[in-house]
Amino acid sequence: MMKIDLTHSQIKLDELHLGDNVKQIDEMIRLKTGAGNDYLGWADYPLHIDMHEVKRIKEDAKYVREHFDTLVVCGIGGSYLGARAVYEALKGLYPEDNFEIIFLGQTFSPTYTYQVLKKLENRRFAINVISKSGTTTETSIAFRLVKKLLIEKIGLENAKKAIYITTDKEKGLLRPLEKEGYPVYTLPSDIGGRYSVFTPVGLFPLACANIDIDAFIQGMKDGMEKYSNPNLKENACYQYALTRFAMKEKLGKDVELFVTYEPQFQMVGEWLKQLFGESEGKEHKGIFPASCCFSTDLHSLGQFIQEGTPLLFETIIYVDNPLHDVTIEEDKLDEDQLNYLAHKNLSFVNEKAFLGTLSAHAEVGNVPCNVIKLEKMDERSLGELLYFFMRACAMSCYLLNINPFNQPGVEVYKKNMFKLLGKK
Ligand code: PA5
Repeated sequence: MMKIDLTHSQIKLDELHLGDNVKQIDEMIRLKTGAGNDYLGWADYPLHIDMHEVKRIKEDAKYVREHFDTLVVCGIGGSYLGARAVYEALKGLYPEDNFEIIFLGQTFSPTYTYQVLKKLENRRFAINVISKSGTTTETSIAFRLVKKLLIEKIGLENAKKAIYITTDKEKGLLRPLEKEGYPVYTLPSDIGGRYSVFTPVGLFPLACANIDIDAFIQGMKDGMEKYSNPNLKENACYQYALTRFAMKEKLGKDVELFVTYEPQFQMVGEWLKQLFGESEGKEHKGIFPASCCFSTDLHSLGQFIQEGTPLLFETIIYVDNPLHDVTIEEDKLDEDQLNYLAHKNLSFVNEKAFLGTLSAHAEVGNVPCNVIKLEKMDERSLGELLYFFMRACAMSCYLLNINPFNQPGVEVYKKNMFKLLGKK
């Protein structure tokens, strides 16, 4: 499903002599002895996933699709990005479906929130509020607003069949709603937000969008099978983790630019930015994760990447077989002089843009590049891809001696904001 090509990376893994470190770290992940070990539940989750819960998710999702035309997902960070990334990657930005997911609670923006609420006035909508802590302000405000609107529209008793809660087993302000009769899904306590896309956090909204969650889960299982091999020579995921580590340590590259050639993968870039940024960016260490969509951004940032300050390397995610294709037809007049492309598909053009840019950046611009090729844009490939990055991220953090699973720095903004808001 996935191929990883590190030949443009400028790194020779053999010369690093880090195979034993990788083995040790792999053991820390497997035996759950590394820093933050009480949050390593995602690593072997493929072996423990509760298929009864998956069945319930599918039944509830069927009910939601039959009774509503919209699902509002309230959540932020790890309680939002995974579902949105997979939803957009698989459905595209203009889905041919009469069921829509709308995301709220990932911003305080009054204009965004107002417009979503306005749009919902004319929709038959259900809600999935997702918060592990149950106390995240962005999510709580969104949920309060949207819940009120729903109750006004359909009444309290009906709302109980339209609001789905995903939260921690015990903690937080959402769990008590279970006693009021709202259906609740549990986010396992040993899995943190940004590693939670394969739990109900991601699975429930994705099932509502008619995404094949069985295939997505199978992709995660494929990922675990392939990428938990302690032997560096046989594990492309650890090879990638080590390569990016060496790109910073040996080549002085401080920025990893995740590149896609599909606009519907932009949220995969956002998910990656959170995964690596929040996991690795601590103790004044880590690689800054950024993302771009080519060829769009070749017309904005391409110049900098080619010839600007040499601070970055690229990790390109390229899809071999897109969901849809479009053929360029012959035009008798050829006023636009495009007949040299007549009968060619846009996938052909996109691929040549990818190959031309790779050689421009890697060979001429001296920008190190990693290439990850996805055979297809489907559930199984996405599942494998996301597991690949989670495992690579844990390996990367442990190579830096960092706990991948906390985010102490995020609290600083919250503390200041609460003070300014007058929260007791
Ligand atoms: O990865 C993380 O842990 C964070 O990004 C959280 O997911 C995010 O802050 C939202 O937290 P919560 O699910 O508690 O609302």
